[in-house]
Amino acid sequence: MSESTEIKIRALGDTKLFQPIQVGSNTLNQRIAFAPTTRRRATEDHTPVDLELEYYTKRAQAPGTLIITEATFASPQGSGSSRVPGIFTEKHVQAWKKINDSIHREGSFSSIQLWHLGRAADPKNLKDKGLPFLAPSAAYINEESEQNAIKAGNELRAFTLEEIKDLVNNQYPTAAKNALAAGFDYIELHSAHGYTLSQFLNPVSNKRTDEYGGSIENRARLILEIVDKLIPIVGANRLAIRLSPWATFQTSAPEGEEIHTYILKELEKRADQGNELAYVSLVEPRVSGNADVDKDKQQGNNDFANKIWKGKLIKAGNYTYDAPDFKDLLRDIEDNRTLIGFSRFFTSNPDLVNRLKHGYPLLKYDRDTFYNPNNWGYNTYNNHDETEVFDEKKEQGRVGVALA
Ligand code: PHB
Repeated sequence: MSESTEIKIRALGDTKLFQPIQVGSNTLNQRIAFAPTTRRRATEDHTPVDLELEYYTKRAQAPGTLIITEATFASPQGSGSSRVPGIFTEKHVQAWKKINDSIHREGSFSSIQLWHLGRAADPKNLKDKGLPFLAPSAAYINEESEQNAIKAGNELRAFTLEEIKDLVNNQYPTAAKNALAAGFDYIELHSAHGYTLSQFLNPVSNKRTDEYGGSIENRARLILEIVDKLIPIVGANRLAIRLSPWATFQTSAPEGEEIHTYILKELEKRADQGNELAYVSLVEPRVSGNADVDKDKQQGNNDFANKIWKGKLIKAGNYTYDAPDFKDLLRDIEDNRTLIGFSRFFTSNPDLVNRLKHGYPLLKYDRDTFYNPNNWGYNTYNNHDETEVFDEKKEQGRVGVALA
C-alpha cells in the first residue's frame, strides 16, 4: 500500500467519540454515524439488493454504530432518478427488512433517509412513470433541467395546495409506516441539499404567495407539518431531520441561519412538550451536497444550532480534513450530545469505527467509482486486518441480485 492511498490518523478510542450516547431510546456504543451516501445499486423498480445487504452489514460490524442508509424515495412522486432505492412498495419493505435484520444482528442501528427530489428530479424519469414534475414553484435549478423538461414534455410546475396536503397526509406517513414495517430504528427527513423539503425553505426555489411561501414561518410550514404528522405515527424518539443551512448544492444561495433558527426553536418547543426528536443532522459548511467546499468559499457555521437545539446532533462533512489530529471533531463532540457522521471514508473503510478507535490508517476512497451502478468500489474494500484481493472484472460485472 503506497503512502498516497492512505491517510494517517490518531487513535480516538480514549476520546468522547468512543463513549456511549443515547439516541431516542437506543444507546449507541460510540458517537459515530454512517451519514447517507447515494450509491445507486438498487433495481430499476427501486428495490435494494444483495450488494446493499453486504455493504451495510460490513459497515455495521462495530456494535452500536448508527447506519443511516442512502437517501431513499418516499413515494413515486418523490422519485426521479434511476437505481435509487425506495420505500413505497411491499417489495421495498421486504428487501429493506432483510438489510435491517442484518444490521441488527451486528448489534447496530439503522435510520432511513426519506428522499423527495422535487425540482432535482429527472423530468423524463417521472414522465416515463406518468408523473408530473413538481416543485414549490416553477423555478428550474438550471437551464439544462429546463431543456430536459421541455424535451420530455414534462415541464416543471408548482405543487397545488392539494398536492402539498398529499405530501403531509399521505406520501410521508405511508413511507414512515413502511419504514417501521421494514425495521428501521429511525426515520430521517431529508430537508437538505436542495431537494423538495429544502426547496420549500429556500426563497430561490420557493416563490409561492400562499401560506407555504414568503415569510420564514410559511417556508418552514411544510417540514413542521410533516414532523407533527409523523410524531404520533412513529414516535418523536424515532424521528429525525437533516438540514444543510450553508449548502449551495442545487441552488444559488444557502438557506442560512435565520430559517434554521426558527425550525430548531420550533423543534425545541415540541421537545419541551415531551416530543424531542431522536436527532437533528446538520451538514457542516465544509461540504455542499456531494463535494467539499474550498476553504475560502465556506460560509457560516453551525454553532448557532447548539445554542437552540438541546437534543442530539449529528454533524457531518469532511471531519477528516484535519487528520491526523481531528481538532474540529474533538471540539464538536465536547458538548456531549453531538455525534459525527462519516460518509466517503465509510465507503472505503468498512471497519472505519475500529480504525478510528485504534488509529489505523484510513484508506482513501475513489470518487470515480461513486454513483456507478456496478459493485466495484463498494464491496471491494477490506478491514484493516484483511488482505483479500478483489477481481475487478468480476466485481464490475456483479449485478445486484434480489434478496432471497
Ligand atoms: C447525491 O446523490 O449526489 C446526493 C444525494 C443526497 C444529498 C446530496 C447529494 O443530500
